[in-house]
Order: sequence, then structure tokens, then C-alpha cells
Amino acid sequence: MMQISELPAAYARVHLPAKVALAVTEKPDGNYNLITIEWFMRTSIQPPMFAISIGHTRYSHDCLEGVRYFNLVFPAKEQKELLTLCGSNSGRDIDKFTAGDVKHFAGKLHKLPILKDAIANFECEVVSQVRSGDHTIYVGQVHYSWLDTDKELFFYS
Ligand SMILES: Cc1cc2nc3c(=O)[nH]c(=O)nc-3n(C[C@H](O)[C@H](O)[C@H](O)COP(=O)(O)O)c2cc1C
Repeated sequence: MMQISELPAAYARVHLPAKVALAVTEKPDGNYNLITIEWFMRTSIQPPMFAISIGHTRYSHDCLEGVRYFNLVFPAKEQKELLTLCGSNSGRDIDKFTAGDVKHFAGKLHKLPILKDAIANFECEVVSQVRSGDHTIYVGQVHYSWLDTDKELFFYS
């Protein structure tokens, strides 16, 4: 029977299994940061676009206010540890590329790092943004996409 519910109970019931991603951003010093995100989606077919929702307290938010590019990375099954690392530490305190021993190479858009061990990487340029409560939704136009067909996608379940 459908009944009125407390919000946390309703959230808890509907958010799994969840597709998660990593977003690479550029730090003010020219190094790069990684954040684990669950709040992302495709938003346009032509031109291709992805939106990501980033909390105002996140270092990634500061990074995106400075440099208007991100790389949306779809992780492989083997990358669970990296998702935990990037979802529970801030780039203000640690360098996540070093801490996670992340293998990468320079992409084609603003040299954003491409994560070698992921399933897919989408290099995006921020074309618009919307304040959404305590998060900002950044809409990125995809300029280059990368794919490794030998790996399987990670899901939280
Ligand atoms: C599974 C999972 C999903 C998350 N999804 C988001 C998200 O969609 N947006 C967001 O701003 N933070 C999200 N977070 C929290 C950030 O990953 C976390 O606060 C991170 O430490 C921020 O790093 P930063 O300060 O280097 O940007 C998520 C964390 C986890 C573990």
C-alpha cells in the first residue's frame, strides 16, 4: 500500500543499485582532482552532454568554478577502492591521483587526464550551470570519448 514516508526512508529504498562515476577536475595549481559522484546524467543527444551535480562544500566545486572542464569517468568493477578513496577524502587534503596510484595519460581536451583502467572517459567542457539547493549542476558538452571494451562497469548494489 502506498503511504506517506519519511524522506530518508524513501531515498534509502530507491537509490540502489546505483551507477557511479568519477569526475576529474583541474586544481588551481594545475594538478588534477577526482570526486566520486552518483548524481549525473546524459542531458542532450546533439550536441552530446552530461550533467554532474557537485556539492558547494566539495573541493571539486572550487575547481570547476576556476577551470571549466571535467572528465566524466565510468569505473570498472576492479576500481571499487578508488571510488571509496575519492568519495571519502577531499582534494584539499590529499592528492587522489597519487594516493590511488591512478594510471592516466593526457586527453585531447585541455589535457584532462584519461583514466587508463576505467571503462569509459568523456571529456567535457562546461557550457552552463544551475544552482540546485546545496549543489551546482554543471552541464558539460562532450568533446572526446574513450572506451575500453574489455572491462565491466562497476555498480553499487
Ligand atoms: C557513492 C558516492 C556518491 C557520491 N555522489 C556525490 C555526488 O553526486 N555529488 C557530490 O557533490 N558528492 C558526492 N559524493 C561525495 C564526494 O565524493 C565526497 O564528498 C568527496 O570527498 C569530495 O571530494 P573533493 O572535496 O575532493 O571534491 C559521493 C560519495 C560517494 C561515496
